[in-house]
Amino acid sequence: ATPALSAADNKNIVRRKLTGYVGFANLPNQWHRKSVRKGFNFNVMVVGESGLGKSTLVNTLFNTALYPPKDPKQPSLEIIPKTVAIESTSADIEENGVRLRLTVVDTPGFGDFVNNDESWRPIVDSIESRFDSFLEAENKVNRTNIADTRIHACVYFIQPTGHSLKPLDIEVMKRLHTKVNLIPVIAKADTLTDEEVTAFKKRILADINYHNIQIFEGPRYELDDDETIAENQEIMSKVPFAVVGANTEVQIGNGRKVRGRRYPWGIIEVDNEDHCDFVKLRQMLIRTHMEELKEHTSNVLYENYRSDKLTSLGVTQDPSVFKEVNPAVKQEEERALHEQKLAKMEAEMKMVFQQKVAEKESKLRQSEEELYARHKEMKDQLEKQRLELEEKKNRLETGRPLEEKKGRKGFSLR
Ligand code: GTP
Repeated sequence: ATPALSAADNKNIVRRKLTGYVGFANLPNQWHRKSVRKGFNFNVMVVGESGLGKSTLVNTLFNTALYPPKDPKQPSLEIIPKTVAIESTSADIEENGVRLRLTVVDTPGFGDFVNNDESWRPIVDSIESRFDSFLEAENKVNRTNIADTRIHACVYFIQPTGHSLKPLDIEVMKRLHTKVNLIPVIAKADTLTDEEVTAFKKRILADINYHNIQIFEGPRYELDDDETIAENQEIMSKVPFAVVGANTEVQIGNGRKVRGRRYPWGIIEVDNEDHCDFVKLRQMLIRTHMEELKEHTSNVLYENYRSDKLTSLGVTQDPSVFKEVNPAVKQEEERALHEQKLAKMEAEMKMVFQQKVAEKESKLRQSEEELYARHKEMKDQLEKQRLELEEKKNRLETGRPLEEKKGRKGFSLR
């Protein structure tokens, strides 16, 4: 059952085995034909200091001269830029009838200044402005065929120093990781030995972990089969990819021509997995995870940016929209209602109890008052009697003795 269905909808779903061919098994083919007809697009950004081999690697990756070869005679000093520039190059490439509109966004000037503090800003601005254009297009009346210019992957070139990440690398990665799929690569890995590459990779990963930088991790495992999971783990075990770029072919021992770089001491082959991680990077970026990179950009990175942006603009989501479709929210709501009912009953019981206590107390107070009044009355009566007796006594003591004597006398006389 899909999570979008409510509990009531789920109850109405019955599982049936088909007795004959219906034809919806052909859906993937329909999807395939439609996608091929429409073509694909992929936008990749390359970030790294100049001279790290960015253009060479992109050309090697797509096996095309996307970047025209630089003319060494042309001095690049005529106009010295003051900030990092954002340059976008697009090309339509085709392989076995499948068309791909590839856009490479370069960031010339990055890390080239004396002060590189703000180097990340034009890059982040460019990524955000692409999100903004997409958001704007989505909000238009006609939103079919929106051109997707969002950056789907950002290949970050790390200088092959063999030490660890530089403060500039950390700063830039921290600024980028929530907005783009970061793929770190060690540039010109042929300048390091195997042991140096292994140690360098460890230190880079430790830095990335320490600074909580989120790099692209490949697809989620839940829906994949064991083979795909193993393949993905193998690719991810090579991150950060130690890459070598070369657009020229060199002849190796058996007369075979390979893409590689020739040195006095030997040849490094770009497409040889024993020599570098270029094949794994290409596998991730193009062969297996291109769709995943696009989906993650759209469903996670863009969605987060979009909701933050709309929230900051004061747009709120009507919570009732979620109540209908989300069983967890519905359950939570029912629980809250039940708790409310219990609280109400408890309050009512408390009130009745308090009322009874108050009644009892007032009855007790009343009988206490009555008792007190009776007690006072008796006391008053006793006091009165005492006073009367006192008076009598006084009278007897003062006046009566005579009378008494007289009386007695008289009596005795009588
Ligand atoms: P900017 O365009 O100035 O930013 O440079 P970039 O990063 O695009 O570098 P580019 O691809 O122009 O390469 C610069 C130099 O490095 C060239 O001479 C390349 O031949 C060389 N180079 C490219 N890739 C590699 C590599 O993997 N290993 C080695 N040793 N050299 C490389």
